[in-house]
Amino acid sequence: MWDALYSRALERAKDALPRTKGVLLAYNTNVDAIKYLNPRDLEDRIEKAGKDEVFRYSEELPEKITEIPHLLGGILWSIRHGKAAELFVESCPVRFYMKRWGWDELRMGGQVGIMANLLGGVYGIPVIAHVPQISKLQASLFKDGPIYVPKADGGELRFIHPREFNGDEENLTHYIYEFPRGFEVFGIKAPRENRFIGSADDYNPNLYIRPEFRENFEKIAERTELAIISGLQALTRENYAEPFEEVERHLDILNEKGIPVHLEFAFTPDETVRKKLVEILGKFTSVGLNEVELASVVEVLGEKELARQLIAHDPVDPIAVVKAMERLAEITGVRRIHFHTYGYYLALTSYTGEHVRDSLLFAALAAAAKAKLGDVRNLDDVDKALDVPVNEKARDVERRLKEEFGLKKGIAKLDAGQLSFVPTKIVAKPKSTVGIGDTISSSAFVSEFALRA
Ligand code: AMP
Ligand code: GLC
Repeated sequence: MWDALYSRALERAKDALPRTKGVLLAYNTNVDAIKYLNPRDLEDRIEKAGKDEVFRYSEELPEKITEIPHLLGGILWSIRHGKAAELFVESCPVRFYMKRWGWDELRMGGQVGIMANLLGGVYGIPVIAHVPQISKLQASLFKDGPIYVPKADGGELRFIHPREFNGDEENLTHYIYEFPRGFEVFGIKAPRENRFIGSADDYNPNLYIRPEFRENFEKIAERTELAIISGLQALTRENYAEPFEEVERHLDILNEKGIPVHLEFAFTPDETVRKKLVEILGKFTSVGLNEVELASVVEVLGEKELARQLIAHDPVDPIAVVKAMERLAEITGVRRIHFHTYGYYLALTSYTGEHVRDSLLFAALAAAAKAKLGDVRNLDDVDKALDVPVNEKARDVERRLKEEFGLKKGIAKLDAGQLSFVPTKIVAKPKSTVGIGDTISSSAFVSEFALRA
């Protein structure tokens, strides 16, 4: 059944996507310097930095990175759990250490950058992107296509491709440490492929918003029919107040114009910021998150046991996920919650329709293409993902959802609205994992609205 649903959803989504007139993407764009970890090299570095200290941080993540054991401990934390994490690197010596450690590949990074290349560069949908610093390298990482940044020339606001901006601003580099499933150091074995990110970047973590956006947000919003917001995740209780004010102003403008807004949640280590995000979630139409992110949200809602359940099993217990999504919808009023994890996606929507499930299927194909190749180059890559097998472990998840909620063909009615489920395609040996979440969330959100018509 799922193979047939997959093929049909792909055809429908491809037909519908060109109907999207414009998507606003704000706020975080950066350069990802990707390093594929080597176990011996990592062990040597851990020994040198002090094994005891590194191990301490691998059990409890520090809030930010101010010394080398924080960095190596963070990497080890991700390996131990097979989970992604990202921390701000405050210290210059650690930034220098990462730079000398080096990278294997430079890639477009940040939710905005990744989504702009996918939506604009691959799906051909016009996007307006917020790029905090337009350096030559940053601009060169944008694909060709209808991708625009605003430029204020005198009194006139123009929308041009980032390369035409001719910017010579700073490079904002995030170091991405990727490891495959089974990667082992000191007897700690990764249950799954994943990555740890250290961001050497003073703009995105502070949610720097360019003057072009501050001064012209109404005009920018007018050119779009959907918006995706991300990049609030690195804020802390010390620096969140001012940017949040500006973000709320933007949200009010988008809400006034009736533009649906999606929040790409991302790993948010600071509890105050997480609480604040939950507080303003009602201003968003939609939110996208994975199991670590959902657990961290549920935790600030005071549901510690539910939070624990969300990260206790593999695959993640779907009944706990639904419970968490229902709580979140009830407390915040957000109308669409899209949960993704290794092996399956769930969406809870206050509205109904097969298009919700179909958009999830389309997103799973885009995700498989991204996992396989590291970059989705064109729609052909997405087509080819049809050959990737559907995750076997998701059968059990589906069975439990059928028993509990009477799920049929991936859809069930709940008191809170509609539950949509899809088993995803899992690439056995992915090239890398960074940016798959963004690929999933943006493909699903944008195609759902395109398919709604
Ligand atoms: P995030 O952690 O938000 O970047 O999202 C990562 C998501 O990518 C997971 O929730 C999975 O759904 C998906 N994913 C991870 N690895 C693979 C893979 N090998 N094949 C297909 N999808 C994957
Ligand atoms: C975060 C990271 C960025 C990465 C992105 C992928 O925004 O800061 O480096 O490209 O996540 O999802």
